[in-house]
Amino acid sequence: MNAANGLRPFRVAVVGAGPAGLYLADQLTYESEIATVVDLFERLPVPFGLLRYGVAPDHPTIKSAAETFQEILDRPQVNLYCNVQVGRDILVAELRERYDAVVYANGADTDRRLGIEGEGLPGSISATDFVKWYNGHPEASAHDLRGAKSVVVIGAGNVALDVARILVKDAKLLTDTDIPSDVLNTLGASSVTDVHIVARRGPEFARFTTKEVRELGGLDGVDVIVDPEEIPAEDPDGLGPVGRRNLGVLRGWATKQATGAPRRVHLHFGARPERLLGDATVRGIRVATARGSVDVDAHLVIRAIGYRSQPIDGVSFDEESGTIPHQDHRVRYGDGGGPVEYAVGWVKRGPSGILGTNRGDAADTAAAIRADFGGASKVSPSSTMGDVFTERGVVFLGKESWSRIVRHERALGADCGRGRVKIQDWQTLVDIGRAVGENSGVVPEYSSSRG
Ligand SMILES: Cc1cc2nc3c(=O)[nH]c(=O)nc-3n(C[C@H](O)[C@H](O)[C@H](O)COP(=O)(O)OP(=O)(O)OC[C@H]3O[C@@H](n4cnc5c(N)ncnc54)[C@H](O)[C@@H]3O)c2cc1C
Ligand SMILES: NC(=O)c1ccc[n+]([C@@H]2O[C@H](COP(=O)([O-])OP(=O)(O)OC[C@H]3O[C@@H](n4cnc5c(N)ncnc54)[C@H](OP(=O)(O)O)[C@@H]3O)[C@@H](O)[C@H]2O)c1
Repeated sequence: MNAANGLRPFRVAVVGAGPAGLYLADQLTYESEIATVVDLFERLPVPFGLLRYGVAPDHPTIKSAAETFQEILDRPQVNLYCNVQVGRDILVAELRERYDAVVYANGADTDRRLGIEGEGLPGSISATDFVKWYNGHPEASAHDLRGAKSVVVIGAGNVALDVARILVKDAKLLTDTDIPSDVLNTLGASSVTDVHIVARRGPEFARFTTKEVRELGGLDGVDVIVDPEEIPAEDPDGLGPVGRRNLGVLRGWATKQATGAPRRVHLHFGARPERLLGDATVRGIRVATARGSVDVDAHLVIRAIGYRSQPIDGVSFDEESGTIPHQDHRVRYGDGGGPVEYAVGWVKRGPSGILGTNRGDAADTAAAIRADFGGASKVSPSSTMGDVFTERGVVFLGKESWSRIVRHERALGADCGRGRVKIQDWQTLVDIGRAVGENSGVVPEYSSSRG
């Protein structure tokens, strides 16, 4: 419409190149009647958010959504600026001057807290951190599983199941994934024999889904142990289909004899964490149950109680829900001449929902953006984003850099007889992206480095 009239394309800045940001870019550029340019700004040196750094490495079907995201990135109307944190390397006020619309798609990548005694002891970690570690996130801490025989995982969501599964699964079965080699070695040398999943409510309220919980029962060398007294014999009134299916799976396990397998996953329901036990380091957890307080021994406690978004300077944020408040997907109405601003994905809805949930969500936000578009772009910046970053010494990595990183990770995998192996170190990702030390003749997409 605007292009046909010779008007400038509609310019949209998207903060975050995770699934929600990419689905939104797809909605705005695929066979769109409005000529639109989407610039994606990503804090990390690589795109795809929790698809790369959350989804478990042994879930290849979900991981293959990367191919769809790559197709979106490959469109000429979509630009990528990785290694750029909005609120630090570029201010929201600057985006407001340069774009017709600003969309917050910055997701959630920190942990929630239990707020109980002992939570800060060494040996008490968040699933957020543990998941980052096994997924090769550049900010993850290293973990050593030698000497940890018993692990407690708090929470009954799909993340708790992912963590438990990775802990008990035969590490050899992870060789074909993109898991970093040192993580694979650590998992191979692990002494974990027992993982206790501790849920504060009854099994009918578990947040995990049936396919995911059933997967635990299919692991070689692992017994799943459920106390029959914790599983209701009848489905409670009003229980939905997922709850009914989950209870069916749990009842099956509750009546099964353990086979004497070398590793066990114990599911405990109605066990509310009271405090973590230990002096210098964690040695267990005390939970309140219908039968009184019970102590569960553990050398490591992993809190899988949900993710949390981080506020961005200059953008409203609701501390209680950890989301950006919005009305009909709109965060700010452009009063005072600025652009209308929007939100999409986990930072809008809170940290729940699978990849596909973000696709529908992006369609809703895109519809709001299209409805607000007046027919002509109102902005005409005199410099490119690349010029701005170069001038201020911000090293950004664009699509070329991302392709180089992908090629390098594939080559790394081939070297050790695996498919693709992730690079963990931030600076190494930046150097490979910039082709530092490579006599490739490639002109870097930027020219100076951040201090
Ligand atoms: C451990 C785990 C496993 C999961 N497994 C599955 C699964 O198997 N199947 C499934 O369908 N779903 C799964 N999900 C859910 C799925 O990952 C989410 O629905 C989805 O990633 C949410 O997308 P998002 O774009 O809103 O957030 P994110 O994926 O968090 O992406 C947000 C992006 O914004 C970036 N960002 C943050 N702040 C800034 C800033 N200031 N400036 C620039 N960029 C910024 C972040 O670095 C990130 O890349 C899983 C989630 C988790 C946590
Ligand atoms: N394979 C997959 O499809 C997959 C894999 C991983 C993640 N995901 C999705 O990603 C989203 C996030 O998953 P998630 O597991 O992080 O979150 P989640 O589904 O919200 O589960 C969080 C769990 O933590 C518990 N919890 C919260 N606060 C607690 C506290 N103070 N003390 C004890 N327990 C507490 C919750 O119990 P209550 O219910 O009692 O509050 C719940 O069991 C979900 O939508 C999930 O389905 C999908």
